[in-house]
Amino acid sequence: MDNLLSNGEVYQTVPKQFILPPENRVSGEVSSTVRLPVIDLRGGPHCHVEDRDQLIGEFLRAGKEFGFFQVINHGVSEQLMADMMRVTEEFFNMSKEDKAAYYCEDTSKTNRLFSSTIYGKDGPRYWRDCLKLACYPVAETINEWPDKPAKLREVLAKFIVEAREVSMTLLSLICEGLGLKKGYFEGDLSSGQVLINANYYPPCPEPDLTLGLPPHSDRNLITLLLQGAISGLQIMHQGKWVRAEPIQNAFVINFGHQLEIITNGVLKSVEHRAITNSGAARTSLAVFIMPAMESFISPAKEMVNEENPPVYKSFVFKDFLRIYMDLSAKRVDVMEAFKISG
Ligand code: OGA
Ligand code: NI
Repeated sequence: MDNLLSNGEVYQTVPKQFILPPENRVSGEVSSTVRLPVIDLRGGPHCHVEDRDQLIGEFLRAGKEFGFFQVINHGVSEQLMADMMRVTEEFFNMSKEDKAAYYCEDTSKTNRLFSSTIYGKDGPRYWRDCLKLACYPVAETINEWPDKPAKLREVLAKFIVEAREVSMTLLSLICEGLGLKKGYFEGDLSSGQVLINANYYPPCPEPDLTLGLPPHSDRNLITLLLQGAISGLQIMHQGKWVRAEPIQNAFVINFGHQLEIITNGVLKSVEHRAITNSGAARTSLAVFIMPAMESFISPAKEMVNEENPPVYKSFVFKDFLRIYMDLSAKRVDVMEAFKISG
């Protein structure tokens, strides 16, 4: 509990366990001109059929070029998004005593409040607190969610159903666009946990010395992120960091390692990080669609032919997770471990 950053303290200096070695600090140019593609979902899952082909084209272009994009008009109401941000902020603004009930350092537990990251245990700490929850199906998970603030369960229950639906819509468009068998991503590949990371990055007095999250790629299939008005997420694009500038009511979408492997590298699980700032606390909510633990993952046969032999090995998802953790989520190392060599 003493490790929690959001414990009511206003930091005048960065405690030394958070100071990154110089080579890992925020460095390198951040592009001021490149913007993530913004895709208009035309109202969400039930978009007009005639728009479908055009939409699919936009997704695949953005997916291949950036691996990250923002979606607007996705069908989740402004009210629900605002309510979700508000209950999350209320959660982190609760007293230390109220939060103590949820705090847990046991990394094998899913539902818990903790600080920093789950990988790289002996390294420096990262400037973030996180409430991690398994959220789906709602009826099976809701009793494990925090019972404070009062509205959290009610709002999250609505939000997670709609956020998952947006993710599944995107997956079905991608499936169609890539010529995969209909329903390829339904079933095992997306029927594991739906995890939410509610991230809280308090103001940091010396942002140049810290990071909120180190560069990583996500372990899952697809990620949907809701961020508030404060900028902090950066994406690696052509060797430079690019800001994912907040757009009101948009979701930031990115592909996890599993989608890169299934598409045999056509869609990339792009590296990203969260920086800190001295002015204002930043809150974000990441929704991770996960394969079932026992699910068998391999490059789809539709993505493989004589000219494009499989680049990645096949494996069972839970084995991937173990190796991902052992390698501290570093993209190059993780991808190397699952590449077919030669
Ligand atoms: C994550 C993540 C980015 C952010 O939780 O995996 O990349 O902006 N979050 O909080
Ligand atoms: Ni991430």
